[in-house]
Amino acid sequence: MKIACIGGGPAGLYFAISMKLRDAAHEIEVFERNPPGVTFGWGVVFSDLTVENITANDPVSAETITKEFVHWDEIDVHFKGETITSGGHGFIGIGRKRLLQVLQDRARELGVGLHFEAECDPGDPTWRGYDLVIASDGINSRFRDALPDAFGVDVDVRRNKFVWLGTSKVFDAFTFAFEDTEHGWIWAHAYRFAPDCSTFIVECSEETWVRFGFDKMSQDESIAACEKLFANYLDGHRLQSNASHLVGSAAWLNFRRIKCERWTSGNVILLGDAAHTAHFSIGSGTKLALEDAIKLADVLNRKGLSLEAALNEYQAERSLEVLKLQNSARNSTEWFETLERYTHFEPLQFAYSLLTRSQRISHENLRLRDREWLETVERWFWKRATDGKSNKTAPPMFAPFKMREMEVQNRVTVSPMAMYSAVDGVPNDFHFVHYGERALGGAGLVFTEMTCVSPEARISPGCTGMWNADHVAAWKRIVDFVHANSTAKICLQLGHSGGKGSTKLGWEGNDVPLDEGNWPVMSASDVPWSPANQVPKPMTRADMDLVRDQFVAAVRMGLECGFDMIELHAAHGYLLSSFITPLQNRRSDEYGGGLENRLRYPLEVFAAMRAAWPSDKPMSVRISATDWASENGTTPEDAVLIGEAFAREGADLIDVSAGQTWADQQPVYGRMFQTPFSDRVRNEGRLATMAVGNIYEPDHANSILAAGRADLVALARPHLVDPFWTLRAAAQLDYRDVHCPPQYLNGLSQLARNLKREAEAAAALRV
Ligand SMILES: Cc1cc2nc3c(=O)[nH]c(=O)nc-3n(C[C@H](O)[C@H](O)[C@H](O)COP(=O)(O)OP(=O)(O)OC[C@H]3O[C@@H](n4cnc5c(N)ncnc54)[C@H](O)[C@@H]3O)c2cc1C
Ligand SMILES: Cc1cc2nc3c(=O)[nH]c(=O)nc-3n(C[C@H](O)[C@H](O)[C@H](O)COP(=O)(O)O)c2cc1C
Repeated sequence: MKIACIGGGPAGLYFAISMKLRDAAHEIEVFERNPPGVTFGWGVVFSDLTVENITANDPVSAETITKEFVHWDEIDVHFKGETITSGGHGFIGIGRKRLLQVLQDRARELGVGLHFEAECDPGDPTWRGYDLVIASDGINSRFRDALPDAFGVDVDVRRNKFVWLGTSKVFDAFTFAFEDTEHGWIWAHAYRFAPDCSTFIVECSEETWVRFGFDKMSQDESIAACEKLFANYLDGHRLQSNASHLVGSAAWLNFRRIKCERWTSGNVILLGDAAHTAHFSIGSGTKLALEDAIKLADVLNRKGLSLEAALNEYQAERSLEVLKLQNSARNSTEWFETLERYTHFEPLQFAYSLLTRSQRISHENLRLRDREWLETVERWFWKRATDGKSNKTAPPMFAPFKMREMEVQNRVTVSPMAMYSAVDGVPNDFHFVHYGERALGGAGLVFTEMTCVSPEARISPGCTGMWNADHVAAWKRIVDFVHANSTAKICLQLGHSGGKGSTKLGWEGNDVPLDEGNWPVMSASDVPWSPANQVPKPMTRADMDLVRDQFVAAVRMGLECGFDMIELHAAHGYLLSSFITPLQNRRSDEYGGGLENRLRYPLEVFAAMRAAWPSDKPMSVRISATDWASENGTTPEDAVLIGEAFAREGADLIDVSAGQTWADQQPVYGRMFQTPFSDRVRNEGRLATMAVGNIYEPDHANSILAAGRADLVALARPHLVDPFWTLRAAAQLDYRDVHCPPQYLNGLSQLARNLKREAEAAAALRV
């Protein structure tokens, strides 16, 4: 094949090499706009896996590259005058200029034609004479941008400003240096890539950048200002830029995340940064470019594969890898963009939060990397959780948490889950076993299902209630059992279904109206949940008084039962949530309109409940932190304001759920998918929060808690199949101090021994 590679970066050069290695008969030419030896950027970092891949593909260039690698192990985080050092991270770096030199030499040796100072124009008819034109022309690809619709280009310009500099100062560790200045936070990411040279990327928010006056400075002035700012770390070494003499480069940039729906159009194929970019803070752009090149060369040379099938396979496989990396990169980008959310942390937690920012590194990964450091974090966590009383080194999920005078033994909670199994609202033997068993299972806090404050407040005829003496007696039996047989605390979740009421049992059809015996429903406005549901009656002031008083009466009954805590359900589109979300609240009175108005009634109910609930007992509120709507819905930004408003009325915990507030929601699911909302409410609002949503591993729980993304973690579905989730986690993590019913102690220690033996055998196999 006759192939032109536009751009002599890692992607173009490595593709040319990989093609020639597979079939020397290919005619390949690489066109690069810059002269040889002149390039932007300084060093690049690789992972061990990338090294394995390039060694398998071309042992010759891999040998030269790996010989010149600089290795380092530690990460230093400089923050508020402290340096937090953790080890075991294992980085490998090389100068970009040197990498390109090695690749150019190898390409030449294999017979690739290299043309420098050759600016290529996508409109040039020359390209029609090639079988394939590889657009390996980087992030600002002209060949991609000439056909934006054909490639389905999606560009996301990120908020922060950064400049990619170099220095002769040699950093022994990967260094993050955060400086708090009169203009705001500014920080550097620095790492060594050669024996005498380090990359030094400076980053800050756009606002800070403007306040510094970087927008009006020349490149030299910017560099001088950065030298002054980071003088403590540079030990007199200068900062340098190599962008000034390059075509098409600027000093300060905003990172541009590129995604393309299609990677091929006609004879043009996108490769590397031209097709996709990953934020520099996870340092994987070069890896992706090299791996793209290997895959594309593979499929193009596979016998019997048509060109179309080859290109389809190339995109299908590579785009999946890219998607995973871009997801991690997005988390990492956002962490730096919302840095000020975390600057109230103590240095150790700040460093932990930084290390786990992309969600690719978890608590247990950190233990494998540097056990001693992780144990320092665990000790710090326990000390803080116990007002300095405990010196324990143990997983954060087992640390106690205090709200008012109630202390939970650990941070795991059984999330509220409707069981649809009551008759006339009365919990029965099913509920007795269900809640009793989950309390025995070791969770620190067990929530009841949404328990309804009147018959009309029920979602379905099977919902539990709290409006008469039968309810009090039945709930009291459950609460007494929990208190007598476990250390778990039990929280009564109270709610009103609003416009989502009068529907079938959960497993008969979610939100589907009853076949017969429907009762009238009411809501903030006359917006039905779906065309199949009733049109609710907009609440009058008299309705509001009645329902508020029903909530208060239920609180008093909850007290009689001995509950430890009350939660108000103001999420998921039920009555109070219908006031909060603008998608359901269309009122024109003082309860509709802006957020302050929409919150007025839910806050009134909460305040009345709080007044009836003893001041030494805690209360929480469950909110939907987003409506998962592209426009007009509640946003995570609103969620902070909503959390703050409830906290002002005496909420001790914000239970941060999301969605289910309108039928056309577009949620984005994944592991721990709602935790970012809890993180935001907790750290912007400085409130105690509980995270929920697809948290299912002890490692998830520990990572969330240690990173300060929540104070408690709630698990719903995992507890349906495993009431003993917490005890199992204790066995898995070899934590002995968990409360276990004495009747079950033998089982717990046996499980712990077996799991330990299995872990040791697996570790021995790995060695
Ligand atoms: C601040 C920063 C730090 C980074 N740190 C790392 C890191 O540590 N590790 C890592 O793996 N990656 C890192 N990257 C990303 C990495 O630089 C890219 O992902 C990688 O270079 C992509 O390779 P590429 O060949 O696709 O594109 P590029 O390396 O950008 O190469 C494209 C080439 O095409 C040339 N070109 C462009 N247009 C034309 C034209 N019209 N005609 C002729 N030639 C043209 C350019 O001059 C360039 O040489 C970082 C990026 C930034 C911005
Ligand atoms: C069967 C079932 C019933 C639920 N009922 C309630 C409820 O009564 N009140 C509530 O606030 N959330 C309820 N939820 C939502 C859960 O508390 C939780 O927020 C959600 O399932 C996500 O957590 P998970 O991924 O751990 O399951 C219910 C979830 C399930 C699966």
